[in-house]
Amino acid sequence: MPVPRILVFAGSIRSGAFSARTADAAMKELAMQGADVTRISLVDYPLPIMDQDLEKEKGVPENAVRLARLISGHDGLLIASPEYNASIPPLLKNAIDWVSRVRRVEGFHPLAGKAAALCSSSDGNFAGMRGLYHLRAVLMACQMEVITPQCSVARAADAFDEDGGLREERLRRQMEKVCRTLIERAMMFSTRIEP
Ligand SMILES: Cc1cc2nc3c(=O)[nH]c(=O)nc-3n(C[C@H](O)[C@H](O)[C@H](O)COP(=O)(O)O)c2cc1C
Repeated sequence: MPVPRILVFAGSIRSGAFSARTADAAMKELAMQGADVTRISLVDYPLPIMDQDLEKEKGVPENAVRLARLISGHDGLLIASPEYNASIPPLLKNAIDWVSRVRRVEGFHPLAGKAAALCSSSDGNFAGMRGLYHLRAVLMACQMEVITPQCSVARAADAFDEDGGLREERLRRQMEKVCRTLIERAMMFSTRIEP
């Protein structure tokens, strides 16, 4: 059976970000379930704010093309994000917007048909969950296959043990289900392009 390739990143580049810890917990669970996981940080893909004049003048930035190619080389995507004012943080939205433009110049659509799973985290009680409704809608507009199960980590400062594992049994079960479903869908809808 082919090994599913899953790309994992967080919607924050803050040092010590809770969403990075959530992404790490997802990475470990995916690997335990047999996936070949690539863990990246958006800090390595700096992008200017989306501006159509800039796009017209200079084209899609190389970092957006790199990110799009990386996504294309995977069967599925897992994003762990915080929420800002109950919505998507600009860093993440900006990266998605640029990547969604790559098809115009590169002739392939990096997001269409690709399976995606969402996680969120916050030190508050809402767990960043409200932002995921918006993130889900944006990714669906980009024709991604976003799975229903998601894992949202509330009171994130106390949610992880010293090994980075989720302390709460309920959250561990949620994460296990997210990863299992993502792997299933990623193989079902695989649109992977070998680099
Ligand atoms: C502009 C802004 C808006 C925020 N809005 C929310 C919010 O709506 N809900 C929430 O739980 N936390 C909110 N926060 C707090 C973030 O959840 C918190 O800073 C979190 O640690 C950021 O995620 P990270 O740890 O992954 O970097 C907001 C933070 C910023 C900077």
